Amino acid sequence: MPFYRSVGDIPRKRHVVHRVDGAVVAEELMGEHGFSADSSLLYHRHSPSAVVGIEPVEAPEPAFSPNTPLSPHHLRPRSLDAPPDADAVLGRRHLLGNVEVRLAWVRATSTSPLYRDAVGDELAYVQSGSAVLESVFGRLPLSAGDYVVIPASTTHRWVVDDAAELLLFEAGGHVTVPPKYLSDTGQLLEGAPFSERDQRGPDPEPLLVEDEDVAVLVRTRSGLSRHVHATHPFDVVGWDGCLYPWAFSIHDFEPIVGRIHQPPPVHQTFAGPGFVVCSFVPRLYDTDPESVKVPYHHANVDSDEVLFYAEGDFMSRSGSGIGQASISLHPAGFVHGPQPGSREAAADQAGTDEYAVMMDTFAPLGLTDQARAVSDPAYPRSWARR
Ligand SMILES: [Fe+2]
Repeated sequence: MPFYRSVGDIPRKRHVVHRVDGAVVAEELMGEHGFSADSSLLYHRHSPSAVVGIEPVEAPEPAFSPNTPLSPHHLRPRSLDAPPDADAVLGRRHLLGNVEVRLAWVRATSTSPLYRDAVGDELAYVQSGSAVLESVFGRLPLSAGDYVVIPASTTHRWVVDDAAELLLFEAGGHVTVPPKYLSDTGQLLEGAPFSERDQRGPDPEPLLVEDEDVAVLVRTRSGLSRHVHATHPFDVVGWDGCLYPWAFSIHDFEPIVGRIHQPPPVHQTFAGPGFVVCSFVPRLYDTDPESVKVPYHHANVDSDEVLFYAEGDFMSRSGSGIGQASISLHPAGFVHGPQPGSREAAADQAGTDEYAVMMDTFAPLGLTDQARAVSDPAYPRSWARR
C-alpha cells in the first residue's frame, strides 16, 4: 500500500524521544523486505516485545491433497459444517491451497481472538454481513462487497456484530495493487479500474485498549503459537507510513469493456505471490452485433482458475447448478468454457449484473477433505449434459 497516512500523536522527526502524557513511548518500525520496502512507524505506550507467556496451540494444519484424477469442481461452501459461534480466525474452513496461497471460507458470528499471520498478507472478501477489523492501526469498518488487505504480522481481530461471511486468501507473501496500474512512483494510473479515492484506511483515531496478560495467536508455516503480552497490543497512540490494512469495495471497481470480449486481465484487482485476484462486476456486454457475449472456451495452460460467484446472474454457467456463493475450480489441463445454452441466453442482453471474485494460481491447487465433501459430483459433466 504505497500511500502515506498519518494517525494520532507522532513526533516531528523519526527516531527521537517522544513523550505522550509525560511518558516516553516505544517506537516500532514495521517494514517489509528487511528495511527495503514499505513500512510504518508505530508509537506504543508499552513495549510491543513484552511477552509473559509462550504456549503451543493444538490446531491441525489443513491438508491439501492433489486434484487427481484431474477434475473441475463446483464447491458449495455454505454447506460446510460450521459451529454456530465460529469466529473469523479459528472458524475458517480451508478449501483449496498450495505452497503460495490458501483459500478458506467462514461464516463468522463471534469476535475472533487477537491474531497475526506471520506467513504473509491476508486478503478477505466480505460476502455478506458486516464487521470491524480492529488492529494496531485502528478500526476499519467493513461491509458486504469489501475486500480488505491485512499486511503480514499485523496484530488484529475481527469484531462481528451479527454474522459475516468471508472468503479468505492466506498469501505466502505480500498482496499488492497490480504493478501495471501504477506509475513509477506508485500513483494509480488514469487507466486503472480504481483510484486512491476508492481505497480506505483505518479510522483517523487511534484504537486504545487497556488490559494485561493478553493472548495473541501467531501463525507461522509451522502452525499456531500463543503469545501472552504483558499489556494489550492496541496501545498505539499514533503511527505513520505506507503499510497498514486497507479496504476496497468491489462496487467501486470500474469495469473495462470493449467491442468484442475483453480477457480476464482487465478485471485484475490484486497481485499476490503466485496468484492474482480479479473482480467481475456489472457491465455492458460487448457491443459488436456479432460478438459472442460469454467467454470463449479457454485452456489456462499455466494456472488453476477459481471463481467465487458473489451476487447476480452468472451468465456463463447457465444450468450448471452454480449459484450465489458457489466456488468453481477449473484447473490447468482442463479446457473450460460456457455451459450449453449460455451463449444463447446472453445473446439479446445488453449487460450482466454479476459480481464474482476470481483467483488464478500459477501452481496447482490441492483440495481439503472438507472441500471434497461439498463438491457437486455432477458438475464435471455439466458441459456434456449427461
Ligand atoms: Fe475461465
